[in-house]
Amino acid sequence: MVNLGDVFPNFSADTTVGPIKFHDWLGDSWGILFSHPADFTPVCTTELARVVQLYPEFAKRGVKVIALSCDSVETHKKWLNDIKMYAGYSMEGFPYPLIADEDRKLATTLQMIDQDEKDSQGIPLTARAVFIIDAKKRMRLSILYPATTGRNFDEILRVIDSLQLTDKHRVATPVDWKPQEHVMVQPTVSDEEVKTLFPQLTIVALPSGKNYIRRTPQP
Ligand code: BEZ
Repeated sequence: MVNLGDVFPNFSADTTVGPIKFHDWLGDSWGILFSHPADFTPVCTTELARVVQLYPEFAKRGVKVIALSCDSVETHKKWLNDIKMYAGYSMEGFPYPLIADEDRKLATTLQMIDQDEKDSQGIPLTARAVFIIDAKKRMRLSILYPATTGRNFDEILRVIDSLQLTDKHRVATPVDWKPQEHVMVQPTVSDEEVKTLFPQLTIVALPSGKNYIRRTPQP
């Protein structure tokens, strides 16, 4: 089991761009790894196509993208054409690699299996996992969706923005936060420090009389 903050496993895999060792492939970048139950399936196709469209947004944030599906590299390569067409992507090649995990070994190691959902042979499906890994190769986010629910990759970008902002400043992002909106000062910032660090601070008055909602413009 990989926990938040753990160094992500340095697995080896076959991909649509050849064999990789995960840490070497990441280099000094952040990364997002997301998994799929199988090739040529409708929801997966919409998700991979959306990530093709959002790829420049990931690149802008210094985040490399890699997907995993439980079929072979050969099958993946045939599927890529469908994904490109669905995404309206007409360039040569494909912006990010797909890992082949035919025997579900990697999906099992990384605990991506959903015991509740089975394929036509009764084998548990690989769920839709999302892992965000930072430049120090530590896992910063892990979400597991069932195979029947497609993900929202705008939300994944929003999380990356929050992680990268809160790594630099002692703030936290509130519910439904979007970049450039106000943020919260972290509770660990003392009343003495707060005035110097966040001179534009506003404190929300609450019935408890406790001054713990301390808002500030995004640094
Ligand atoms: C899909 O991608 O559409 C899908 C895959 C496995 C189970 C259910 C849906």
